[in-house]
Amino acid sequence: MQLTLDAPLDMHLHLREGEMLTQVAPHSAAHFSGAVIMPNLRTPVTSLQEVLDYQAAILEACGSEAFRPYMTLFFRQYSRAELLAAREHIIGIKLYPAGITTQSEAGVMDFHGIDQTLALMEELEIPLLIHGESNGFVMDREQEFMATYQRLAESFPSLSIVMEHITTAAALSVLEQYENVAATVTLHHLMLTLDDVIGGLMQPHLFCKPIAKTPRDREALRQAVFSGHPRLMFGSDSAPHPRHAKECCGCAAGIFSAPVALPMLVQLFAAADCLEQLPAFVSTNARRFYRLEPVPRTVRFHDQPWQVPEHYGTVRPFLAGETLEWSLTDHRNS
Ligand code: NCD
Ligand code: ZN
Repeated sequence: MQLTLDAPLDMHLHLREGEMLTQVAPHSAAHFSGAVIMPNLRTPVTSLQEVLDYQAAILEACGSEAFRPYMTLFFRQYSRAELLAAREHIIGIKLYPAGITTQSEAGVMDFHGIDQTLALMEELEIPLLIHGESNGFVMDREQEFMATYQRLAESFPSLSIVMEHITTAAALSVLEQYENVAATVTLHHLMLTLDDVIGGLMQPHLFCKPIAKTPRDREALRQAVFSGHPRLMFGSDSAPHPRHAKECCGCAAGIFSAPVALPMLVQLFAAADCLEQLPAFVSTNARRFYRLEPVPRTVRFHDQPWQVPEHYGTVRPFLAGETLEWSLTDHRNS
């Protein structure tokens, strides 16, 4: 059996820089026609020049693949002139609460002090992408952030807001309330609960932010995604860390899923008997919300099993060593 996907998109991706970028970018470029690139580099991407330099490095790392990096700026207070200059070159601005996850120390400390930049973004039609977690108890962080999403969605009704990597039923209810709000969902949050991370032997390679939640939350996410919710978009949150940073005391948060994301999604949607909903989740919902012109590219899969390698260079991938039912056939630029 064969399956063809038209312009699949990864709406939340960490590609890093330097050697890691060279190592991981080709995996995304092989499967996706484009991806939203996160700006949390060691020095966050906070200027147009940094956006352009990073984009050039990504294109070089991808080689000849028809892959479009949709760039983001790291949120800070920006002037109108800065936003005007940047807006043709970015898909949005990514906001991190300060210190909430990997390389987010320069994030926002006071959510009431940022309205001026948000008003400019609303006026200039620049989407706001948010890592929505409080600094409360780890299992409650996303839920506690919902009041902030609600305040922003109501105060800036024309601002496009993306709740990144949602993990809870609470986030799905907020999604229902606001037309200007969309959300990304990862592969791993459709598959894991906290039990997989710490219920048996602790699994550092499954440790990520936001942490995987309860079976009830996972079920709610699956229902919403599998039933084709029009404002849910796939975003892998593939976030590579070298093994030495994962297999140690003080394990870094992040799961590297780029090489397995699409074949495993095909498998999940097939098992749930809803393959017809997959194109909306991995492409058309994002194209509609962000008003994107798709890169003309199709990606084909066939139902031939393959075993996920234990390592790609210095990184251990999600589902390492497991056998997946669908393989990438080839891709063509049309
Ligand atoms: C991401 C990373 O490593 O950059 N980590 C993660 O656990 N998801 C940052 C993020 O998106 O939170
Ligand atoms: Zn992320």
